[in-house]
Amino acid sequence: MPTTQSSESVEELKIDATSALRSADSRDQLEAWRVEYLGRKGRLTSVLRGLGSLDIEQRKVVGASANRLRAELESLFDERLQQAKSARVPAGSIDVTLPGRKPALGGLHPSTQMIREITQAFNEMGFQTIEGPEIELERYNFDMLNIPADHPARDQFDTIWVDQDSRDDILLRTHTSPMQARVMEKTDPPVRVVVPGKCYRYEATDATHEWQFNQVEGLAVDEGITFADLKGTLYEFARRIFGPSRKVRFRCDYFPFVEPGVDMSIDWNGRWIEIMGAGMVHPKVLENAGYDSDKYTGFAFGMGPERISMLRNDITDIRHFFANDLRFLTQF
Ligand code: DAH
Repeated sequence: MPTTQSSESVEELKIDATSALRSADSRDQLEAWRVEYLGRKGRLTSVLRGLGSLDIEQRKVVGASANRLRAELESLFDERLQQAKSARVPAGSIDVTLPGRKPALGGLHPSTQMIREITQAFNEMGFQTIEGPEIELERYNFDMLNIPADHPARDQFDTIWVDQDSRDDILLRTHTSPMQARVMEKTDPPVRVVVPGKCYRYEATDATHEWQFNQVEGLAVDEGITFADLKGTLYEFARRIFGPSRKVRFRCDYFPFVEPGVDMSIDWNGRWIEIMGAGMVHPKVLENAGYDSDKYTGFAFGMGPERISMLRNDITDIRHFFANDLRFLTQF
């Protein structure tokens, strides 16, 4: 029967039209929807036009529901059109053809990476990693290390002193060696530690000198430790950091806190490059910390991780490490 068909069509039309309107979000899609449903030749208009073929009762019923639907759809359409207009992004503000970009991820500072590699090499040989204060007392930085106030070695350490009204013996540590004294003061032998950390010197900077830098200190004290232990340990360290066939050279050097003292160099493209100072802990340093120097002996060493990183990575200026330039930092 045409009458029932027509009124069913209004229902169907409503379902079709509302779901199609929901999925149209651009202005073009909305306009196409308007033409299809509300346009002069649209589906709702055809229903209204077909009313004439219905009998009077049916015409009233279908006509009324079709007109209600028209009003309903018109207002829904206006609503969607407003939404589409307000959601519109200003032209050109997003270039959808651009490829995606990787988010910038953080990473470990090159000094930290080198420090970790160095301390790990010693950790695997039984050394424990500890840290100490960067603001230090003159006593630990100098006196306990056999560098009394009138000692000429103090001249090598251009010291940054910390201004304090009440006292004049506070400084920024010039090396990590004060931790030797602090550890021995607190611990009974055997001691095997490595101490990474920042140091400061009042120095003019150039490609190989910074006023701030890191050091890694090492200390081993026990009964019967000899110079052979020093050599064996540092040899093994050099092999781990610079490769198994690396040549190593020890030469006499002077540091007030060791006796004998040495510097250690490695062969680098046919040249000897000094990478650390070391030596047998001076009996006075053992005594200052309360150790019996007849019973105990030990060795100590100190190196600059930035210098080692410079060698390994072909870095020509130590100042890069603290300049905070991402072009440098992201290369690691
Ligand atoms: N503290 C020394 C410096 O800063 C480096 C050093 C040399 C440390 C010999 C040591 C050592 O432990 O035995 O120049």
